[in-house]
Amino acid sequence: MFITFEGIEGCGKSTQARLLSERMQKEGYSVLFTHEPGDSPIGKHLRKILLSEPMDSLTELLLFLADRREHLVHLIQPALSQHTVVICDRYIYSTLAYQVYGRGIKKYLVDTIHQEILDNTFPDRVYLLDLDVSQALQRKKHHAFDRIEKESYEFHQRVREGFLELAKDNPSARILDATLPPLTIHNLIWEDIQTLFLHRRQI
Ligand code: TYD
Repeated sequence: MFITFEGIEGCGKSTQARLLSERMQKEGYSVLFTHEPGDSPIGKHLRKILLSEPMDSLTELLLFLADRREHLVHLIQPALSQHTVVICDRYIYSTLAYQVYGRGIKKYLVDTIHQEILDNTFPDRVYLLDLDVSQALQRKKHHAFDRIEKESYEFHQRVREGFLELAKDNPSARILDATLPPLTIHNLIWEDIQTLFLHRRQI
């Protein structure tokens, strides 16, 4: 089972991914809780560059995709083949939302590269935590902003709309109102996960 969490900065997706991962571990599941960019050995270096150095948009895209391939091959696929539940904080949607909707890169280019590098590894469930951009940035204001967080309000707005657009056409996606209390969101996710697992066991 492969579950991903997506959304703009400050939406609370990392908290939800962690809460779900802890809950599933408590229930006895073997879980890999992981994050993009940066959770593979090469990804660690790519993350540093991606979040600090100014760069061309296509270079940025290719580095995120290089990070994804390393992450997939060295962490996600080995875990899935051992029947470990993989909970991943950011995946395909982040590239489409940030690089396509945010930066204006052609979607067909990202789709074409994804087709070659993902070995058909798509999430069973995508949770999109949706939040107003001003509220999201307000939540982050006590931290030093990285290169992408420093982008304009309009950029983050395009990213938010991109996420919503992607999720509304995907039957595996669930859009969650990120203004709800964290525990309420977690309980909604938990209910949905139980249904998902039950359904999987029946087929
Ligand atoms: P990170 O510090 O990991 O924060 P977050 O908790 O928001 O995930 O920052 C990752 C940044 O990289 C974030 O601004 C989103 C961006 N990103 C892309 O632009 N494209 C991608 O494909 C991915 C995975 C992330």
